[in-house]
Amino acid sequence: MLLVNIKELVGIEEEGRLMKCGAEMSEIGRIKNAFLLTRGKKIVDYGPMDSPECKRYLSENRRIVDVSGSLVMPCFCDSHTHLVYANSRELEFVDKIRGLSYEEIAKRGGGILNSAKATAAATEDELYETAMERLNEIMHYGTGAVEIKSGYGLTTESELKLLRVIRRLKENSPLTIKSNFLGAHGIPMEYRGHQEDYVDLVINEMIPLVASEDLADFIDVFCDKGFFTCEDTERILMAGIKYGMRPKIHANEMAVSGGVQVGVKYGAISVDHLEQMGQAEIECLKGSETMPTILPGCAFFLNLPLSPAREMIKNGLPVAMASDFNPGTSPSGNMQLVLSMASIRYRLTPEEGLNATTLNTAYAMGVSDELGSITRGKIANLIITQPMTQLEYMPYYYGANKVAKVILNGKMM
Ligand code: NIG
Ligand code: FE
Repeated sequence: MLLVNIKELVGIEEEGRLMKCGAEMSEIGRIKNAFLLTRGKKIVDYGPMDSPECKRYLSENRRIVDVSGSLVMPCFCDSHTHLVYANSRELEFVDKIRGLSYEEIAKRGGGILNSAKATAAATEDELYETAMERLNEIMHYGTGAVEIKSGYGLTTESELKLLRVIRRLKENSPLTIKSNFLGAHGIPMEYRGHQEDYVDLVINEMIPLVASEDLADFIDVFCDKGFFTCEDTERILMAGIKYGMRPKIHANEMAVSGGVQVGVKYGAISVDHLEQMGQAEIECLKGSETMPTILPGCAFFLNLPLSPAREMIKNGLPVAMASDFNPGTSPSGNMQLVLSMASIRYRLTPEEGLNATTLNTAYAMGVSDELGSITRGKIANLIITQPMTQLEYMPYYYGANKVAKVILNGKMM
């Protein structure tokens, strides 16, 4: 397929970097009036319309798609979601408006435990159908790859059910999907006061079973005040690593939890949330292979303090931004909105925001060698936008769906 008359091709990465850190986050390749050639699933070539290559491609017999007026950019990668869930939670949303905090709702058995009850009652087919609809929705907003966590099960049976749903989604969806076992997402009521017994269950029963069916690429823990301690987290991560699962952590949402340090110590591919960050956390991330990942939708929905994104970039760190799509703290998987919030709320430039939601999130889900940028040889997961002026319009015109078409694995969807 030969895309021609692209108003602006953005998100080009010539050097094949797998992530961008600090000042590099401002670097993004852009070509006005461009072409892009795909073959099979892959990006083969791109460049200016008036180049000799383009003339040659035009003279050959191939499918030509004229996208006059539109930008072409890499699809978003969403490295943090919980999009397999059974019930929405709009009544808790109203409780929050009336003044209850997220922690108070969790303490009285709402929140994650509310979702766990509904998951137990749902069939695998029901969970699969509703999750597939959500995947379809986010695809139309431009997401081409997504990480999905379990964690609304909290029993061995329900956790396995959620992970099997994710496996079916992997097999049947055109999106690239990575699965994450988050058995340590909440503490079931019957384990309150002796949560180490639940941690034992996760380690001794759940992890071996999850591994025996090869259901998880990653292992996650909600390491935060009122949830799992650093000690719980270390034990669970060690067990997961033994079975080949790479850690990703929920940390520092409610408090400076020590979760960032634990994540870095165990080689986490990402540490996520980070609303509560001090200089010690920033220092600890320097020189690590761990991607700090901010979840703007969650901070927006819960009115949380904002992660110090600019401070992190100033300190040379990479920053990724994902949706956290889930029914309790971020009921939206719209990555265009995340891109807008990156600029509006966190003061990232449009270039930095694009790197944060494409290449750096691809890294945070272990796929940046084949996704997350316009690079020769990478998979052709591309957004063709509605007609617009330039990249800067994407975050600026917030709230609307500016995606006209999506190409996944080289196929127009
Ligand atoms: O990433 N913080 C923990 N987990 C989810 C929220 C889960 C829920 O409330 O349903 C999150 O925000
Ligand atoms: Fe989350």
